[in-house]
Amino acid sequence: MVLKITVIGTGYLGATHAAAMAELGFEVLGLDVVPEKIEMLAAGKVPMYEPGLEELLRLHVAGIEGSSGRLRFTTSYEEAGEFGDIHFMCVNTPQKHGEYACDMSYVDSAFASLAPHLKRPALVVGKSTVPVGSAERLARLLTETAPAGQDVELAWNPEFLREGFAVDDTLHPDRIVVGVESEGAEKLLREVYATPIGEGSPFVVTDFPTAELVKTAANSFLATKISFINAMAEVCEAAGGDVVKLAEAIGHDERIGKKFLRAGVGFGGGCLPKDIRAFMARAGELGADQALTFLREVDSINMRRRGHMVELAREAVGGTSFLGKRVAVLGATFKPDSDDIRDSPALNVAGQIHLQGGQVTVYDPKGMSNARRLFPTLGYADSALEAVRGADVVLHLTEWREFRKLDPAELKEAVAAPIILDGRNALDAGAWREAGWTYRAMGRPRA
Ligand code: UDX
Repeated sequence: MVLKITVIGTGYLGATHAAAMAELGFEVLGLDVVPEKIEMLAAGKVPMYEPGLEELLRLHVAGIEGSSGRLRFTTSYEEAGEFGDIHFMCVNTPQKHGEYACDMSYVDSAFASLAPHLKRPALVVGKSTVPVGSAERLARLLTETAPAGQDVELAWNPEFLREGFAVDDTLHPDRIVVGVESEGAEKLLREVYATPIGEGSPFVVTDFPTAELVKTAANSFLATKISFINAMAEVCEAAGGDVVKLAEAIGHDERIGKKFLRAGVGFGGGCLPKDIRAFMARAGELGADQALTFLREVDSINMRRRGHMVELAREAVGGTSFLGKRVAVLGATFKPDSDDIRDSPALNVAGQIHLQGGQVTVYDPKGMSNARRLFPTLGYADSALEAVRGADVVLHLTEWREFRKLDPAELKEAVAAPIILDGRNALDAGAWREAGWTYRAMGRPRA
């Protein structure tokens, strides 16, 4: 019998997980409480930009010509409860407004809405990033409120996908981690992942708290690595060193590794910043706050990068004020190959300069409509060339491939002053300098 799977929450994580499960041959029902999202998905459209996801979805959404028909969508918890043998909980846990802690209200509401409809044995699998201890609490809630009582079990199975690589990361994960309380739950999850997904991926079985912690520990380590190299960039700038060479050289040591050592304006997005803050908040509640005080420094090094870019831009336009100065910003999303602008360093820098009186024009290949919606007072252009027209300085803040392909000679004709600040250390410094630009990068010597 083919397992029936529901996926609750259809953001980056849920939409990708639902499509991947259908790809593997399961019958899948995706649920979201936002009807517009469900209408789009049911029509084979993805409400965000994620390479390869729409194509995968269209292969399986019922009603689309030539599809497998294995993937359907609903807004009804009753339907989901009746349908699923396994329910993957994929709702998000954003940072609480004005606090470090994460907002568990979406997770809590999803569990509370599903539980009364669990009338037959089922496995509920949490995938969201949550404060350690949540799984134990949610397991209790399920057995107490689901009509099937003890026959409803919980497992915790954190997800490590990166935006821009969501499909690939889901179909070929580095590892699968499951926190379980019974052999039955482990067996069922092994069955789900005994598909091409599990091939070659280590399967780590553990308890609830460890499974929850694996996710926050992994993201904290990644954030620490980035802030480490950005701290080195600060020292390099002070000492006249080159952080790109330094990263390359230390990265040759396999114990350190080359990845996540790209210095620049720092990390953003919906995960790393809020996850380290939520981790600190939770450690505080557990009386273990001292263990994570270093994350406070990781966070502040990261935020300092944004301020530093603003200062470099101010220096480039004369050193005193941005008043009357035109600043072109290339990039709005927190990283390339995504339209996500959550906690984006690029828009943060653009916003700071705008608040200080600069005339900012932003261009991004995929993030324009989100940026326009959230930052309506910034200026926007439809191309990089338009954005830099008349600019006193150009800031490269998200490393889209499109920006690496720009012709420095053509852009030079359009600007007021050919100064480019590379906040991602991703452009070809030699080519820009050769074309007559003053090229400056973070953590590297001035030419
Ligand atoms: C991250 C984790 O990588 C993923 O495993 C987890 O599931 C969710 O959080 P994501 O937020 O999609 O994924 O982006 P990631 O590729 O990790 O980049 C995060 C931020 O760090 C971006 O703003 C990126 O520009 C920045 N970054 C990354 C650097 O500044 N330097 C680097 O060397 C790497």
